[in-house]
Amino acid sequence: MTLRFYDFHPSLGDMRTEILQGLRQPQKAIAPKFLYDKTGAELFNAVCELPEYYLTRAEMAILQSRGEEIARLIGDGALVEFGSGSCQKVQILLDAQRRLNNGALSAYVSLDISKEHLLESCQKLAALYPELETDAICADYTQPLVWPEELARRRKVGFFPGSSIGNLEPQEALTFLADSRRLLGPEGGLLIGVDLQKSAAILEPAYADAQGISAAFALNLLRRLNRELGADFDLERFTYRAFYNPLGRIEMSLVSLREQTVRVAGEVVVFRAGESLLTEYSYKYSVDGFQALARKAGYQPKQVWLDEDRLFSVHYLQV
Ligand SMILES: C[S@@+](CC[C@H](N)C(=O)[O-])C[C@H]1O[C@@H](n2cnc3c(N)ncnc32)[C@H](O)[C@@H]1O
Repeated sequence: MTLRFYDFHPSLGDMRTEILQGLRQPQKAIAPKFLYDKTGAELFNAVCELPEYYLTRAEMAILQSRGEEIARLIGDGALVEFGSGSCQKVQILLDAQRRLNNGALSAYVSLDISKEHLLESCQKLAALYPELETDAICADYTQPLVWPEELARRRKVGFFPGSSIGNLEPQEALTFLADSRRLLGPEGGLLIGVDLQKSAAILEPAYADAQGISAAFALNLLRRLNRELGADFDLERFTYRAFYNPLGRIEMSLVSLREQTVRVAGEVVVFRAGESLLTEYSYKYSVDGFQALARKAGYQPKQVWLDEDRLFSVHYLQV
């Protein structure tokens, strides 16, 4: 068993600059990548278990029922997961490829911005699949990345589950796809989970559950800013809101319950009563709409699978 760790984590200074920039915009916004400190990662795992959050169940059902077909498409080399979280979904693929051809893959590369969670998950995974080299890379996948030398020469297939592509605005999603195509190289491919357009009656409860776990997940961002950037947010003075915007996305934000002033990294930030701080978008796609975006980024869509209820899609794109 080998586990290598590469730390390209953005510095605290970069985080401070990016967060202050977001708070100075007319529509205050903080990128969703900041939601995932250790508690955030745990709360996200709890979200995945919620009855209203159909996404994880639907995607896992697709991977389970099509595992061997997908493993055949993935082939050999290294499987690189972007935003690997608890590395749960990839185990379905690793098991399938073990059954199929005694393990054509030689390496699993887990890339995530949440360092502690990344290391914990990779240690568990490396123990379960000792035949694979496991590489943990702590990095921001929206920033340029250069592969460590051992990885640069391998064939690489990307795995981007969880509909994380939906967190990016369409132009950013196009940039991510085009960059990933270059990173994965001419022999590669990308297996990507994409949530489908559907009625607000199904979407809104998925992002604002009855138990309030999604709300706790978003509010934890303020706790993180208090701890890491010396901010003084009073969590009692914000409430969580998620709604479907007919532009085709869920919008998640924290809404100020009153007019208030907050200090963040030494800067004063004023919130009006009812003003929102955007924490996340989740764009929803049609199969054709996503394939058109993938083509624009230079990928060739090869295969798409849906779950029984046609809630979620998994695409295999060839570089
Ligand atoms: C929505 S969770 C998905 C986790 C898992 N892949 C799944 O499908 O259940 C997003 C994961 O991506 C990571 N992440 C979010 N933004 C990131 C970024 N810009 N760069 C690297 N990792 C990121 C988070 O830390 C988290 O583990």
